[in-house]
Amino acid sequence: MNYQWYPGHMTKAKRRMQEDIGLVDLVIELIDARIPVSSRNPEIDNLGKNKARLVLLNKSDLADEKHNRLWMDVFKEKGFHVLLVNSKNGQGIKAIQGIVKEACREKIERDRRRGIINRPIRAMVVGIPNVGKSTFINSFAGKACTKTGNKPGVTKGKQWIRLNKDLELLDTPGILWPKFEDQTVGLRLAMIGSIKDEIIDATELSLRIIEFLHEHYPLALNERYGILDFDDFNEALRMICLNRRCFLKGEELHIARAAGIVCDDFRNGRLGRITIDRNP
Ligand code: G4P
Repeated sequence: MNYQWYPGHMTKAKRRMQEDIGLVDLVIELIDARIPVSSRNPEIDNLGKNKARLVLLNKSDLADEKHNRLWMDVFKEKGFHVLLVNSKNGQGIKAIQGIVKEACREKIERDRRRGIINRPIRAMVVGIPNVGKSTFINSFAGKACTKTGNKPGVTKGKQWIRLNKDLELLDTPGILWPKFEDQTVGLRLAMIGSIKDEIIDATELSLRIIEFLHEHYPLALNERYGILDFDDFNEALRMICLNRRCFLKGEELHIARAAGIVCDDFRNGRLGRITIDRNP
């Protein structure tokens, strides 16, 4: 589910987001715990002003535990409610119900003062492509929930998932557009595999990954590929090529294949739990 974004895409995504956000009390924003800055579009703060906000650091299983804790604090300081989750295995999902109530306490109070009781909180999930929105909705809503659509008072055509008497979720997630304008952001999105590989050459990308690991996780390359000393990152890649026995005909090195292996291992956590964006 990768997108090539261009201005037309962004305008459409933004218009859709403005429409949908008007219908909810709470915005559940998914960001990738490995790149909590680069996987965010700060425009959501403007679009979601006056809404209760919950930030989920998703794919926290792939991110460095120490940095997960640091990033939680950063988002809390900004005034968001925040949780670490793994949508794939459901870790952290149970804690959401409680925190939703906390995040929406003001709205619940306001309703009560006006004599409105039992009106469920309405929420929508937003995030950039590939951050895990569909996986999260499946995991959070589960199979037990009933879909409710076209109810009076609900915009025609919108489907809501009723999680329980207190909470309804818009069943289509809001897609935020990544901020490609920033070169670093583009590179980091490519590193975690959230933008098409065609945008950046895989060999170049693997060299940047090796460079990053060498600087921040110096043991990772040795542990996975048994390489320790190298003069430059090209040499490191050649050594990985040998270690993984990536050959063309004869003894010629198949560098592109080794590059693919490095990118894949990095993205799937086989080089360890890694956080790329560091707390400023
Ligand atoms: P989207 O709707 O935001 O575009 O994202 P989607 O749910 O399609 O998830 C994108 C990929 O991220 C999927 O992997 C999904 O399994 C994976 N994913 C989502 N949440 C988590 C998480 O918390 N931890 C980990 N480790 N992975 C997560 P995929 O390779 O595209 O599909 P699949 O092979 O897993 O089915």
